[in-house]
Amino acid sequence: MLKVLKHPLITHKLTQMRNKNCGTKDFRQNLDEIAGLMAYEITRDIPLKEVEIETPVATCKTYEMEKEIVLVPILRAGLGMVNGICNLIPTVKIAHIGLYRDEETLEPHTYFEKYPKAVKDAIVMIVDPMLATGGSAIAAIDMVKKQGAKNIRLVCLVGAPEGVKAVEKAHPEVDIYLASLDEKLNEHGYIIPGLGDAGDRIFGTK
Ligand code: PRP
Ligand code: URA
Repeated sequence: MLKVLKHPLITHKLTQMRNKNCGTKDFRQNLDEIAGLMAYEITRDIPLKEVEIETPVATCKTYEMEKEIVLVPILRAGLGMVNGICNLIPTVKIAHIGLYRDEETLEPHTYFEKYPKAVKDAIVMIVDPMLATGGSAIAAIDMVKKQGAKNIRLVCLVGAPEGVKAVEKAHPEVDIYLASLDEKLNEHGYIIPGLGDAGDRIFGTK
């Protein structure tokens, strides 16, 4: 299921990022902040378990998170969303999936993967600012599924309808969260209006 997270702060910060005059520092900071805001919304439904604790003055029954959360940034650009989410959920474990998209064929190529043990039973949040053709996201979901992950959420900033459709077809049970569903892809596979090459803008390459 697709969920576009509408919030005035998210919209405002995304507008800053879309502007071609937004420099590396501001691009990174806005991405960080939006990732945190998105994580707050996305975790609304995570399960809690009852626990008993001692406060300084009494015993009380209360609740804590039942499952671990594993964050899976797709390298490189997904790294730009990690800090914002870690600030909100400091206990997350972090996997890494290295994928790059061939600029000609637009096919994803894997160059790295590393997972914490918890991935099997955790709530897995795959993060990447851009969902364009969907090839990278589909490959990443395939990879975490191979590790036994069952509860998977895909979290992207900007998505194209083509990419959403492709992920929904390949992995219908995975919820997709976006800050914006944009218009389309251009002939080079870039999201329109989008925000350009997210990895280059985060890391100041190019
Ligand atoms: C970008 C982006 C996604 C992918 C999206 O990464 O961060 O991972 O492209 O495109 P797709 O939906 O068509 O697969 P890129 O391959 O440019 O690598 P980078 O993060 O190292 O810049
Ligand atoms: N990857 C990006 O970084 N930007 C796009 O618009 C599409 C893929």
